[in-house]
Amino acid sequence: KLRGVVALDGPSGTGKSTVSRKLASALGAIYLDTGAMYRAVTLAVLRAQVEPSDVAEVVRVVRAAELTMGTDPERPSVLLDGQDVGQEIRGPEVTGAVSAVSAVAEVRDQLVALQRELIGQALSEPGGIVVEGRDIGTVVVPDAGLKVYLTASSSARAQRRTAQDVSEGRTGDLDRTHADVQRRDALDSGRKVAPLRKADDALELDTTELDVAGVLEQLHKHVESRG
Ligand code: C5P
Repeated sequence: KLRGVVALDGPSGTGKSTVSRKLASALGAIYLDTGAMYRAVTLAVLRAQVEPSDVAEVVRVVRAAELTMGTDPERPSVLLDGQDVGQEIRGPEVTGAVSAVSAVAEVRDQLVALQRELIGQALSEPGGIVVEGRDIGTVVVPDAGLKVYLTASSSARAQRRTAQDVSEGRTGDLDRTHADVQRRDALDSGRKVAPLRKADDALELDTTELDVAGVLEQLHKHVESRG
């Protein structure tokens, strides 16, 4: 078991990013947002005016894309070909296309290799690393010392995503966001490669009725008793 690695998986809107960052800060760990990586390469595909369904072209564009991940939990960043794309990757165009791009096996192979490289570097750091995504406990680091799978009802998740959109200056549309949450759940859980699912040995936490502090309290308990 890799004691220095905490893997947090689950669908969108479970509060995963917020609690991952806060947990990393508290542990003095670095933070890796793998969703931001899939979003950034999706932006590269859209900028190249390639259809997300055109697998050969998607693979070509993603191979040529250069990603640089900033892993400070207080101010995580993602650079695509040297340019900060942190805002743009949260917009509706990327959100609409990311599940298609992330279903491509070659895209996943490339990003998983980069994730493992970053995780390997973090293992020599005293605080370790908190990694969030969909397949971290199942595929990327099955040896993680603590694996957590966050869930919540789809309406609770849509409400959180909408509140987050509004607070970050985007348009909030609850019905549209709810439909999008359900659409991405179906795509992410139904895909052939690395589908979203709980690892057998992951701790499952339903956050429907928990606030951020409540989730963090649970996580800290389990961090202390991790392998
Ligand atoms: O976490 P976030 O909502 O930013 O992730 C965006 C999308 O990236 C997900 O809907 C999923 O399609 C993809 N993803 C993935 N594997 C990961 C992280 C994200 O397929 N480890």
